[in-house]
Amino acid sequence: MKPLLVLTTAAVLLARATAMTGVAPPGEPQYDAAGRMVFPADYRDWVFLSAGLNMSYTADPAMAGQDMFGNTFVPAAAYAAFKKTGTWPDKTVIVLENRGGTGKGSINKRGLFQTGDYMGAEAHVKDTARFKGGWGFFAFGAAGAPASEIPHSVACYGCHEQHAAADTTFVQFYPTLFPIAKQRGTLSQSYLAEAAAEAARK
Ligand code: HEC
Repeated sequence: MKPLLVLTTAAVLLARATAMTGVAPPGEPQYDAAGRMVFPADYRDWVFLSAGLNMSYTADPAMAGQDMFGNTFVPAAAYAAFKKTGTWPDKTVIVLENRGGTGKGSINKRGLFQTGDYMGAEAHVKDTARFKGGWGFFAFGAAGAPASEIPHSVACYGCHEQHAAADTTFVQFYPTLFPIAKQRGTLSQSYLAEAAAEAARK
């Protein structure tokens, strides 16, 4: 390689590295210049927390007749931190992927499985310097375009704050994390009161 070419290549690499300093480490939330969250396209490489099938928190039959799975994923580093402490570190991103379900296909005779019908995803993001209350919600369409934070007046925040078992996240539905929160004493007061009331009704 000619010395001039070596120098030019080095300059290009340096310029690229400098431009990259605005990029968040893998698994941490990334925002674009307009402040929208960039969809974490690699979430399928993260740790799988659990799946829900046709879960609904209202009596509204809007989704009746259509089966949908929800799959929840979190980056390995955040998962490891939760295992140690029973709570999420700052910059945690939890993705809930929505996917169609069916019983019809191949040799299946009974039960439902997940299909290639990807219906978008939601993210719950802990970024204490950025969001009121420490957490923000985002909804991404199937195309994965950047999304603005869902306003705090929307029901997402109230339901998660009142009913989620730990740190506004629904670990009561994540079977490997719930025992850890219990053991570490990080279950929320509102969740403990709700669980006590439920036990008393039985
Ligand atoms: C009435 C209660 C309720 C409301 C309202 C609600 N959620 Fe949730 N959310 C849940 C429950 C229960 C789970 C756990 C089960 C699951 O994973 O589907 C959950 C889980 C999640 C998760 C996985 C991470 C976590 O925090 O556990 C995300 C992401 C999420 N919801 C996003 C949203 C968004 C975005 C909205 C508003 C558009 C919203 N939720 C509104 C009850 C609610």
